[in-house]
Amino acid sequence: VREPDLVGRHVVVSAGGTREPLDPVRFLGNRSSGKQGYALARTAAARGARVTLVAANTGLPDPAGVDVVRVGTAVQLREAVLKAAADADAVVMAAAVADFRPETYAAGKIKKQDGREPDPIVLVRNPDILAEVSADRARSNQVVVGFAAETDEVLANGRSKLRRKGCDLLVVNEVGERKTFGSEENEAVVLGADGSETPVPYGPKEALAEIVWDLVTRRLG
Ligand code: C5P
Repeated sequence: VREPDLVGRHVVVSAGGTREPLDPVRFLGNRSSGKQGYALARTAAARGARVTLVAANTGLPDPAGVDVVRVGTAVQLREAVLKAAADADAVVMAAAVADFRPETYAAGKIKKQDGREPDPIVLVRNPDILAEVSADRARSNQVVVGFAAETDEVLANGRSKLRRKGCDLLVVNEVGERKTFGSEENEAVVLGADGSETPVPYGPKEALAEIVWDLVTRRLG
């Protein structure tokens, strides 16, 4: 357990994965379990922070001592994160946010029709919340952290994503068939906008969370 070095700080963590509805019963989603975001919320609370956890479709119980805001879609997640970020010292975007959503929502369940091919699903872009929070810092010294799951060229892709998003830190995971999603463990590299590179060995998601808060507190001064 670390020092209570986040006392007096407000941190915002997003967790889980957004679901983008097609009709009342169907959605486009992803395999994010929310475990890494919950580990970040728990460890920040243990270090004394006031924590707002914006949870998208996780089946996990609310961590003790954390304000939980439950959301479904990327647009709802954006609203909740921006609202909480207004007075936050740090924003950590661990949620898997859908890059696209179906252009139209059918108010009634979409039905198959005999002898007819299905209609294509047309997608439109979702707002990039991490880029937006990074560009419009609610506070001048606010620390913004993103996550990236990469399957190849992990470091090179991570570096360019860090620049594109404009965040201070980017936690880069290598993902594959059996790695990361839903598991209790994680292995990552944390890239800093200052050029730093912090490798995090394979281990519990709590351990990665503690390292993220170490890097955040150092930047908060
Ligand atoms: O671009 P990519 O989805 O790989 O970026 C991942 C990072 O960006 C995560 O921190 C995720 O929470 C954030 N993100 C976002 N809004 C989006 C897509 C991703 O904030 N529309």
